[in-house]
Amino acid sequence: MDKRNIIAGNWKMYKTPKETEDFIKEITPKVSKARALVYIAPPFVCLPAALRAKPGSNFLIGAQNMHDELEGAFTGEISIKMLKSMNVDFVILGHSERRHVFKEDDAFINRKVLTAIKENLQLILCIGETLEQRENNQTDEVLESQILKGLKNVTPQDMENVILAYEPVWAIGTGKTATPQMAETAHCHIRKLLIKHFDKNIANQTNILYGGSVKPQNVSDLLNQENIEGVLVGGASLDVNSFAEIVNKG
Ligand code: PGA
Repeated sequence: MDKRNIIAGNWKMYKTPKETEDFIKEITPKVSKARALVYIAPPFVCLPAALRAKPGSNFLIGAQNMHDELEGAFTGEISIKMLKSMNVDFVILGHSERRHVFKEDDAFINRKVLTAIKENLQLILCIGETLEQRENNQTDEVLESQILKGLKNVTPQDMENVILAYEPVWAIGTGKTATPQMAETAHCHIRKLLIKHFDKNIANQTNILYGGSVKPQNVSDLLNQENIEGVLVGGASLDVNSFAEIVNKG
């Protein structure tokens, strides 16, 4: 099966609506021949600008987070109903900054996953170990636990809408990338977990992205690994030229 890589940009809390629109217009011609699928997740308030600028590109535009309830008294939160009304294409769930800075737990993330699936919105579920967990040789069990809890009650059919992103917490925004071999080892483990909990077809059809200090200089080595089918890029996705270079190497 010839699966296309996914190159996803996570803009975190950067860029205004105007900067978003300018970025998308500027990058579109630079990546018109790319083979990879391009996903961009700007801040919530930039989604309308991104969606407005999108025609003419093949980009998929998504949100960086959402609440699990459709509506309610949750000050400052955004629901899937709102996102879907804008026609966003996907949502990132369980990003390490949501888990570690905003203390989201696996149960909350699982509820969001189930909401996205129920409402038919593609999702990128992020998983990954901390430095302490890696040094204590807990990487495999942390990944298994995050997958089991994050995908609880998700059926094999539901997996069609699920993308996984392995993002070692110690590699995010630190400039320390996992070596391609380290990433491949983790991805291989994740693939085996998907085979165990679903089946081989589901495991093979699911894109597993790597994230954590991905740059134009290291993206090819990462994507050359057998079990890495895309990247989730933070810092290097904010600059048109560096993101275009990454996309074109995808
Ligand atoms: P980074 O972020 O590329 O800046 O390390 C990756 C991410 O948080 O998804």
